Order: sequence, then C-alpha cells, then structure tokens
Amino acid sequence: MFNIILFGPPGSGKGTQSENLIRKYELKHLSTGDLLRSEIANQTPLGIEAKNFMDKGQLVPDEVVIGMISTALETNPQVQGFLFDGFPRTDAQAEALDKLLQLKKTSIAVMLALDVSEDELIKRLLNRGLSSGRSDDINETVIRSRIHEYENKTKPVADYYAKFGKVVHINGEGSVDEIFNALCGEIDRRKYIDIVS
Ligand code: AP5
Repeated sequence: MFNIILFGPPGSGKGTQSENLIRKYELKHLSTGDLLRSEIANQTPLGIEAKNFMDKGQLVPDEVVIGMISTALETNPQVQGFLFDGFPRTDAQAEALDKLLQLKKTSIAVMLALDVSEDELIKRLLNRGLSSGRSDDINETVIRSRIHEYENKTKPVADYYAKFGKVVHINGEGSVDEIFNALCGEIDRRKYIDIVS
C-alpha cells in the first residue's frame, strides 16, 4: 500500500488536488471534512454534534473523527493506498492513525504539505463562500477561527511526521496544474524508492 497525507491550512487546495491525485494514483480518498458534511446532510447524531463545532470554525473532538477513519479503513480492505485529506489534525489523531495503519501492516509514505499565505487563504475561502453553501466559508471571523485552530493544533502534526523524515513542503500558490505537477514529482520519487527498496 502507498499512503499519503495531503496537509495544509483551510483553503490551501487539499480537496482540489486530492481529486486529481486519487485519479492518477488510484488511491482511496478519505476526507474527514467530506465525511462529516455527509453525516450533517443525513442528520445523524454524529453530524448534529459535529455541526456545532464546524459552524464555529473549531475542530471536532478527536474520538469522533478517529472513529470515522477507523470505520473507513475497515470498509476499504482492498485498496492500493489511502489519500488522507484533512486528517490527522492533532497529535492524538496522528498517533491513532499510525496504530490503525500498523494493524493493516502499512504506514504513511509521505506527508505533502501545501504552503499558502494567510491573505491568499482568506481570499480563496471568502470567494468560495459566495457559492459553496458551506456555513464555515461565509464569514471572515469563522475563517480566521479555522486558521487559528490550524496554527495551534494542526501545524504541530507536521513536526510529528518530520521526526521520521516524511514531510515535504510544496508551494501551494500558483496554478492548480503547477501545484499538481510538483505533488506528482514528490510522489513519483517516493514510489520509485518504495519499488526498488
Ligand atoms: P475540511 O472540510 O477539511 O476543510 P478545511 O481544511 O478547512 O479545508 P477546505 O476544504 O476549506 O480547503 P482545502 O485545503 O481542501 O482547499 P480546497 O481545495 O477546497 O474541514 C472542515 C471542518 O470540519 C473543520 O473546520 C473542522 O471543524 C472539521 N474537521 C474536518 N476534519 C477534521 C479533523 N480531522 N479533526 C477535527 N475536525 C475536523 O480549495 C479552497 C478554495 O480555493 C476552492 O474554492 C478552490 O477552488 C480554490 N483553489 C484551490 N487551489 C487553488 C489555486 N491553486 N489557486 C487559486 N484557488 C485555488
């Protein structure tokens, strides 16, 4: 299996790039944001609980998202690899993910971190909020709260993977194609090492 974490702040392009990467590398896309929005749309108890946090731009409790990922890993036994988008977002989530992958005798190959300036993030998210219908995109206060949560709780997760030499930073500003090519370059290099070692 070849497993990737696509990492970066809200609006850095994780969802956009994931769509193209899963097609090219035939990976299973696991986005905790998408899974949570689906729970909200279906008005499940989990979705109702999560919405309170998401509407304020706060992270949903670890046990909720770890449970969702655990189920998703169990229900996809035959895939070539996973692309994690928006997960893990805390050290506790990273440690839980490592344990879950160990049970499947696999691990994270690389964390690809998209670097984008705060001004550009806010511009992108406000712009998307004009049409997306996402309640966490419509005002700048909530967007800033999401970025604040990222800086305080999520950014340190990169240090966790850096200890194992697994983090690669990619410039997340530029055209979608340019960024996609940079991501593919890093994946191809790692996949090649995986094959020959
Ligand atoms: P989630 O759904 O994960 O959202 P996010 O991380 O805030 O990220 P976005 O989806 O807003 O941005 P993105 O990086 O995917 O960028 P995108 O490609 O969409 O999480 C939402 C909430 O759920 C969280 O706040 C939290 O409450 C909860 N949650 C989720 N996971 C959790 C977890 N693990 N633990 C706890 N809570 C969790 O692009 C954004 C915009 O920019 C788009 O309009 C796009 O078209 C545009 N764009 C993309 N690339 C470019 C480019 N190169 N140039 C110009 N524009 C671009």
